[in-house]
Amino acid sequence: MSQPQVEVATLEPTAAATVETVLTVKHWDERLFSFTVTRPASFRFRSGEFVMIGLQGDNGRPLLRAYSVASPAWAEELEFLSIKVPDGPLTSRLQKIQPGDQIYLGKKPTGTLVTDALLPGKRLFMLSTGTGLAPFLSLARDPDVYEFYEQVVVVHSVRKVSELAFREELSSGFAEDPLVGEQAAQQLHYVPTVTREPFKNNVRIDKLIESGALFEGIPGEARLDPATDRVMLCGSMDMIKDFAALLEGMGFVEGSNAKPGDFVIERAFVG
Ligand SMILES: Cc1cc2nc3c(=O)[nH]c(=O)nc-3n(C[C@H](O)[C@H](O)[C@H](O)COP(=O)(O)OP(=O)(O)OC[C@H]3O[C@@H](n4cnc5c(N)ncnc54)[C@H](O)[C@@H]3O)c2cc1C
Ligand SMILES: NC(=O)c1ccc[n+]([C@@H]2O[C@H](COP(=O)([O-])OP(=O)(O)OC[C@H]3O[C@@H](n4cnc5c(N)ncnc54)[C@H](OP(=O)(O)O)[C@@H]3O)[C@@H](O)[C@H]2O)c1
Repeated sequence: MSQPQVEVATLEPTAAATVETVLTVKHWDERLFSFTVTRPASFRFRSGEFVMIGLQGDNGRPLLRAYSVASPAWAEELEFLSIKVPDGPLTSRLQKIQPGDQIYLGKKPTGTLVTDALLPGKRLFMLSTGTGLAPFLSLARDPDVYEFYEQVVVVHSVRKVSELAFREELSSGFAEDPLVGEQAAQQLHYVPTVTREPFKNNVRIDKLIESGALFEGIPGEARLDPATDRVMLCGSMDMIKDFAALLEGMGFVEGSNAKPGDFVIERAFVG
């Protein structure tokens, strides 16, 4: 006798979302995974933006959450980096997706972690905690960013070593990437720090700035300077609040799409 088929819900596009197919899934640890989906020709976004994605909810309607696109604007596929919240309405189910499954993709990407919201500068510092890394994976893989800035710095603070998603790719300067590999080898600096397990850097980002450790090997001064540096922040509310205050104290002015400035912020999650 043949096995009963597992019933997979077929999603219908809505006015606000298209239906895309999952292409690949990678689990980093019990809390984090990333995946790629098809990109419709009509989907345009700026590297660093976020979009609503999701599955069908129990009530039959789309259950959507905000996600930063982790792939760059030029890429053919869309990539996302996701938390697994055990009892999270979306991620308790999203973490089970497999290639061939369908997800909703919102039609309106938006956000402030874009180079348009920053004034020109020499060094771009992208400071992230946890899944706040996602928009910076997009920007660090975008060739334009290497044209706009001489030095591109991705700082990622996590509790555990296993949460350093994309560590190999970032450490190697995306060496396998035909579009940015050459520029990133010269201009990209990756500074991981792990705060609750032994690691080379094991203090929070503010302490790395204070001690100067964050600037090791990066041309220029061993401090942040609004005259030359631009900063993007993505992480928990606490992290953003603390760093925004720190930067404003140093003379940095917050920017927006309407009025570019010296630094920009975005929450990696609500909570
Ligand atoms: C602008 C924006 C961009 C976002 N981008 C991403 C992204 O790229 N990747 C991603 O995984 N999430 C991202 N999020 C969070 C995302 O929208 C959802 O909250 C997350 O997918 C969990 O959904 P859920 O329905 O399972 O649980 P929810 O009910 O949404 O969240 C339950 C609780 O889990 C915790 N939580 C939620 N998301 C995270 C997270 N990312 N890291 C740590 N704790 C979390 C919070 O305490 C929250 O109250 C983003 C949120 C915003 C506002
Ligand atoms: N990561 C886990 O293993 C884990 C497991 C289960 C549940 N959770 C829960 O999930 C939620 C999010 O956890 P998370 O680990 O993704 O994010 P998180 O608690 O924000 O920690 C991520 C990184 O950011 C650092 N950090 C936090 N606040 C900061 C601030 N104000 N300034 C500078 N650095 C700051 C942390 O350092 P510190 O380590 O010094 O705080 C850590 O290195 C939390 O409520 C947590 O309790 C996490």
